[in-house]
Amino acid sequence: MLERAKQLLQPSARSAVPPFMVMDVVAAAARLEAQGRRIIHMEVGQPAAGAPATAITAARAALSSPLRYTETLGVPSLRARIARAYAEWHGLDIDPARIVVTTGSSAGFVLAFLAAFDAGDRIAVPLPGYPPYRHILAALGAQPVGVETDAATRWAITGEALLAHHRVKPLKGVIVASPSNPSGTMMTASALADVVHCAQDAGIVVISDEIYHGLDYAFAAETAARISDDLLIVNSFSKYFCMTGWRIGWMVVPPILVRAIERLQQNLAISVPTLSQIAAEAAFDGRVELENVRRGYQENRQILLEELPRVGLDSYLPADGAFYLYVDVSRFSDDSFAFAKRLLEEAGVAVTPGIDFDPSRGRNFVRLCYAGAGGDMREAVERIGNWLRKDRAGQDGR
Ligand SMILES: Cc1ncc(COP(=O)(O)O)c(C=O)c1O
Repeated sequence: MLERAKQLLQPSARSAVPPFMVMDVVAAAARLEAQGRRIIHMEVGQPAAGAPATAITAARAALSSPLRYTETLGVPSLRARIARAYAEWHGLDIDPARIVVTTGSSAGFVLAFLAAFDAGDRIAVPLPGYPPYRHILAALGAQPVGVETDAATRWAITGEALLAHHRVKPLKGVIVASPSNPSGTMMTASALADVVHCAQDAGIVVISDEIYHGLDYAFAAETAARISDDLLIVNSFSKYFCMTGWRIGWMVVPPILVRAIERLQQNLAISVPTLSQIAAEAAFDGRVELENVRRGYQENRQILLEELPRVGLDSYLPADGAFYLYVDVSRFSDDSFAFAKRLLEEAGVAVTPGIDFDPSRGRNFVRLCYAGAGGDMREAVERIGNWLRKDRAGQDGR
């Protein structure tokens, strides 16, 4: 009886997704901190700053009344405010009825994939790319199809590459992301339009991850909402609005999918945390504070672009947006996991190995997140430089 109960408790096959390795780096860094070491955190992609004061004040005030479930698609005033942001940011008129509030963009992906795809569908995802795209799709029984990108296309999936994969075996969907995680690269407006048009002509559903919008430095990020109504956009309050822990995001979806997504969210979550929705709506009024934070990222980016080449890290993808630098470390190692582990243990700098984002070529890359304090950026470069020098000297002496 006991044996049988044990057998029943085996994890399901669908749960056998790879770990999100950056969280393992976080745990290793925390262990070192518990031993009294000072660690510079460049691993997790999250703002050092908290939510803007406007959001905190609204949340405090809301705590004095009961917090109840809200409408499944989100509080109407928040949906309207998000729609208005598309007018302010992009000059677009988006019907609030197409806005769905979600528990972070992470929950948005689950809803989008469930609403648009069936088990067995093949979905193109960029490599390097955000690992949960692949892992969520796999857990839901869909098949992620990695499309390797390169410098020639500014590290983005092109219409041509998409169709090449579609000809091998039909695709049902494609995920595009600009600015991208881990690379920080962006798609030009015409590159985004090209991939959307190619996909739609071939009957492939587009999901555009726009979670790093607002954090664009090289040129203005384009929204897929300008190109078509017949695609899904996933966005979040986590990055520009500095609200990772509030777990709140949104989607812009085609009218035909609104009811399907509503039914799914009714069953999966009932509604999104009420306090976070209230705070998110007020966060739109924290623009001055948020723009200051953004300027801090720009300064950090500049520090790294100037200082890293000085210590030998001079090869990275274009740092167009978000707060990442995807650095080629192949001169030093062909095992980015071991490289990151030693950098953490020996120099106290936590970075993410590229294999999280690109299982094969990622062994030559690490991702640095520059959302931290400016002083930390300079100290990180010093530490990395000293460590690389010592390591080299050690190797030469061996
Ligand atoms: C590209 C990308 N998409 C989605 C997410 C998920 O963010 P959240 O669930 O906090 O909105 C992240 C988080 O780092 C990300 O980098």
